[in-house]
Amino acid sequence: MTVAPHFQHKNGVLHVEDLALPVLAQKYGTPLYVYSRQALRDAWESYRSAIGDRKVLVCYGMKANSNLAVLNEFKTLGAGFDIVSGGELARVLAIGGDPSRIVFSGVGKQAWEMKAALEAGVKCFNVESEAELLQLSAVAEAAGKTAAISLRVNPDVDAKTHPYISTGLKDNKFGIAIGHALTVYQRAQSLPGLEIVGVDCHIGSQITEVGPYLDALDKLIKLIKTLAEHGIHLKHLDLGGGIGIRYTDETPLSPSTLLDNVFQVLKANRLDHLEIVLEPGRSLVGNAGVLLTKVEYLKHGETKNFAIVDAAMNDLIRPTLYSAWHGVEPVTPRGGDAQAPHYDVVGPVCESGDWLARDRQLDIQQGDLLAVMSAGAYAFTMASQYNTRPRPAEIIVDGKADHVVRPREKVQDLFATETTLPND
Ligand code: LLP
Repeated sequence: MTVAPHFQHKNGVLHVEDLALPVLAQKYGTPLYVYSRQALRDAWESYRSAIGDRKVLVCYGMKANSNLAVLNEFKTLGAGFDIVSGGELARVLAIGGDPSRIVFSGVGKQAWEMKAALEAGVKCFNVESEAELLQLSAVAEAAGKTAAISLRVNPDVDAKTHPYISTGLKDNKFGIAIGHALTVYQRAQSLPGLEIVGVDCHIGSQITEVGPYLDALDKLIKLIKTLAEHGIHLKHLDLGGGIGIRYTDETPLSPSTLLDNVFQVLKANRLDHLEIVLEPGRSLVGNAGVLLTKVEYLKHGETKNFAIVDAAMNDLIRPTLYSAWHGVEPVTPRGGDAQAPHYDVVGPVCESGDWLARDRQLDIQQGDLLAVMSAGAYAFTMASQYNTRPRPAEIIVDGKADHVVRPREKVQDLFATETTLPND
């Protein structure tokens, strides 16, 4: 059993949906990102069915995986988008996404990005500081537009996740301290070119319990009531993203657990007229992808064994950046020798930090294929070309069919626009 229902061994070979992974390795080479279309659809369905007829807009946190095919799939299913840059806005516009379903997050929005988003007509800017508020007001006024805004407040709650992906604590760079929010809302009210429409928070990522969300919600509800007493009435409440996935043995909360709890609290506070916005990224794509890689060499040492594979930290940086755990599955298992050695699975990049998994018992030989699991989120989008390594192709499998949704980069492309200096 793998962590991903659409990636299963059948007749001794790991398949994605109805296609055997060695077929894709043969056709496109490795390393290779492979996604399951049905897994994307199922993940979306877990939100859709949880929502029912409640007023909830799901804005896909596209930084998790921004391939146009993935965006288009979610657009077709009814998603809006959570963007954090002008580049992400351009991607959504490229697939014909509806700007009125876009929320624009991020601590460092630049004037050109604000202008582009105003011209496109985004639903809301999630403003993270007073300085940003002033700039947005000026940009909107100059463009003759009104910017709909939420303040992203920092509720100072512990999301109980890795410190690098925890964002709702006082000492994080994100959001406006909740104690200061009323003052900043009042400031917003006094500025031209702005319309207050909501409140926003995002407390972290890979959250597995509902508690931190409810702690944040409690604080937001108090703020919403205070704002109302001061004549500021909101239309929506954005709870950000953050629902975790199973990488190994986690049991993350489901969208329905989150929404049932949230609506219960809203109802008790007579606030269930508010539209709820969610910004899930990882939980929509994380277990819809694997990174397929080939064992180049095995190196047996005195204290450690290494499986040197053709994928590396430049393709998947999560293990070395966050000490993240990704499952590693032999594509064609050899019968599981109980005496098989333990390996660190490492790449060819010249860094000791270039590892994908550590201390895994693997019954493998040179030339074998391995699938690094749960690589649909924050994998390709965080890839680089370090060591002048072309980024892998991305393939989406639909039943028995495969689609190249991004071809492998060519070495020449990596420096095609570089030039040398003129001679003296
Ligand atoms: N909304 C905002 C404002 C965010 O900053 C994020 C993620 C999301 C939504 C989506 O969160 P999700 O549902 O995916 O947890 N690179 C890290 C994760 C960084 C998350 C950054 N913000 C990783 O690989 O674990």
